[in-house]
Amino acid sequence: MIKELEKIKEQAIKKIEEAQSTDLLEQIRVEFLGKKGKITEVLKKLGTLPAEERPKMGSIANEIKEIITNSIQEQYQIILEKEIQKKIEEEKIDITLPGRTCGIGHMHVINQVMSEITDIFIQMGFQIASGPEVETEYYNFESLNTPDDHPARDVHDTFYVKPGVVLRTHTSPVQMRVMEKTKPPVAVIVPGRVYRVDNDASHSPMFNQMEGLLVDEDITFADLKGTLMYFVHKFFGEETAVRFRPHYFPFTEPSAEMDISCTVCKGKGCRVCKNSGWLEILGCGMVHPRVFQYAGYDNEKYQGYAFGFGIDRMAMLKFSIPSINLLFDNNLKFLEQF
Ligand code: DAH
Repeated sequence: MIKELEKIKEQAIKKIEEAQSTDLLEQIRVEFLGKKGKITEVLKKLGTLPAEERPKMGSIANEIKEIITNSIQEQYQIILEKEIQKKIEEEKIDITLPGRTCGIGHMHVINQVMSEITDIFIQMGFQIASGPEVETEYYNFESLNTPDDHPARDVHDTFYVKPGVVLRTHTSPVQMRVMEKTKPPVAVIVPGRVYRVDNDASHSPMFNQMEGLLVDEDITFADLKGTLMYFVHKFFGEETAVRFRPHYFPFTEPSAEMDISCTVCKGKGCRVCKNSGWLEILGCGMVHPRVFQYAGYDNEKYQGYAFGFGIDRMAMLKFSIPSINLLFDNNLKFLEQF
């Protein structure tokens, strides 16, 4: 009987050591230690032994039972640890993989340029002013010395909202709105949207302008020139050349247009500047005495200068953007470059 028990023990231990799953271990436990298990079967035969041998045999059987139980327990731990290890390996996080990027927005190129330009003028002491985009004909034209029958009205292809009310065609009406509310000295810039019936590669029905107005005593064209040259050198670079050409605007006298040396060819001549070496960038002049009359300013005592330019055009020239529509198409591939 001892031999039989020893054999069972060896069988059990071998099976246990080979078992690779907890399910299998459970089967083995039932096979050897269960109610109908091999050890139990042997113990049932205890009754056939002589009485004095029974306790010894009983204790040997119990010992073997314990050994088998313990080795099942040990193997169980080993399998469990292996399974945990495997799971950890499978679920391992590779921290060298690139992360998922979530796109971060940034300022639109027009806003970037607008704030760069306003910063330059703010440093010079200008303040920011604004006015309505839906404007009366009075502010948009008449008070700027452009009466009904004035030919200059034709060059602004105007969107009419209703008789007497328009979408402003330029930021110049804000000049008058500021002067009506403020006594000189005045130094303002006016960034804002303007509207014209116009649509091609260099025109959009809505675009952005920046107006400038400075009024004080003893202001001359030299102040205008100095201010604009300072701005151009800051914005386009110190090497940029500047020239003024006589022009006509109803609200300034004298009036001028300002050109800068071509930002692409640096003045040598190319397609962008139509081989002239120059790019027209703004209109300007000394505030017309009639405009001061509308504003209620003493035009003997005060002089002023004004200027206006397209912010979109400034952005296009600075970054060599070929079409104004790119600025308004909302194509991320284009916009992300800035
Ligand atoms: N308002 C003009 C335009 O839209 C630009 C302009 C020219 C503004 C001369 C001015 C100025 O203030 O003095 O074409």
